[in-house]
Amino acid sequence: MGRSITILGSTGVIGKLTLQVLQELGEAFSVESLAAGRNARELAEQIIRFRPGYVSVQDEHTREELLGYLRGTGPIPDIGIGDEGLVNAGRIPSDVVVSAVVGARGLLPTWAALERGATIALANKETLVAAGDLVMPKARDCRAQIVPVDSEHSALHQSLRAGQPEAVQRYVLTASGGPFRTWTQQQLEQVTVQDALKHPNWVMGQKITVDSASLMNKGLEVIEAHHLFAAPYDKIDVVVHPQSIVHSLVEFQDGSMVAQMATPDMRLPIQYALTYPKRSAAPWPRLDLIAAGELSFESPDVQKFPSLRLAYEAGRAGGFAPCVLNAANEVAVEGFLNGRISFLGMAKLVESVLEKHPAGVPRSVDEILAMDAWSREASRAILEKGGWRA
Ligand SMILES: NC(=O)c1ccc[n+]([C@@H]2O[C@H](COP(=O)([O-])OP(=O)(O)OC[C@H]3O[C@@H](n4cnc5c(N)ncnc54)[C@H](OP(=O)(O)O)[C@@H]3O)[C@@H](O)[C@H]2O)c1
Repeated sequence: MGRSITILGSTGVIGKLTLQVLQELGEAFSVESLAAGRNARELAEQIIRFRPGYVSVQDEHTREELLGYLRGTGPIPDIGIGDEGLVNAGRIPSDVVVSAVVGARGLLPTWAALERGATIALANKETLVAAGDLVMPKARDCRAQIVPVDSEHSALHQSLRAGQPEAVQRYVLTASGGPFRTWTQQQLEQVTVQDALKHPNWVMGQKITVDSASLMNKGLEVIEAHHLFAAPYDKIDVVVHPQSIVHSLVEFQDGSMVAQMATPDMRLPIQYALTYPKRSAAPWPRLDLIAAGELSFESPDVQKFPSLRLAYEAGRAGGFAPCVLNAANEVAVEGFLNGRISFLGMAKLVESVLEKHPAGVPRSVDEILAMDAWSREASRAILEKGGWRA
């Protein structure tokens, strides 16, 4: 099974794990293109090891830095810059594109890959949240397959292989509950950036770690599941499962619940997406059921974590609402990481931007990008005024 691979976001957590998996999978898999942001040193090491023909970086300064690291190390790949370079990485022929840039910036390169019928191994959930109504039909038109990398959606994808889609009664997404699951409302008012970046079970990039702490990540995943599996919102439930062993489950009409279980390790869903529909052997530790001990499940607290409610509301409202939610959340998380807004202020900011967004139904990617820009501007205006200051 020979496959050529593009990684959008190769210097991030998912990107680096993908390269680890490729290394284990061996020579049948080759690296075609890599796209990074500003981490020139990491990208240079990846180029020397995997020899892609094309790479892209965020700006001219990073390109210069990269060239410095590559001098005297062998052939230099073509180097693209900025959003154009990133989109080119999606466009250059390869079998599988791992979409793992953070944020809605991932939409255009993923779209370019869809247009040429590539298989998308999708980690970048923001693409589906912002533009799922356009992305899914586009994938069908271009015969491009989307295989989820998010562990919950990978679990649903695997569980769904046990029955027909029309026999599904419920899609149950599990959530670890994040670091604040047992915190009181008063404690949540004092959350620091350091607190929010300590996830109990997963090592992830900063944005998704903060989203996991606020449960916005689970909300984004609900919208992602709606698009990936054509699932009505009434059939998607969230259950808190602090051990992160059951990665999600499908309940069929006959009452059977089919779950996927494994140790929390993103290399598994990454490899599943890269090799789908086949499975390959893998070196990572196995789940020891006896050592895992008790597995527990509880309802999420949407009073304490309103972001989950907001995402369901935006998803059900449809139109531009999920795009607005996503962009406002990106600005809110950046504001939180920079100390400009409190932890609880993030959901308030998102809610207030959602309340005033112009109604409508997106008909093109350009319209999505325009609404994304509107939402960012409205959110930044709130930050400028010092709304919900940290
Ligand atoms: N981490 C997980 O376990 C996990 C699980 C499920 C889904 N996901 C999803 O996967 C995506 C990536 O997550 P992550 O944890 O890997 O994030 P991350 O570690 O922050 O990595 C983000 C990647 O995006 C790149 N990037 C940022 N801005 C860019 C720009 N303007 N142009 C080009 N590249 C840019 C970064 O490049 P530089 O570092 O070079 O600047 C880096 O390679 C997110 O959508 C997340 O929700 C992650």
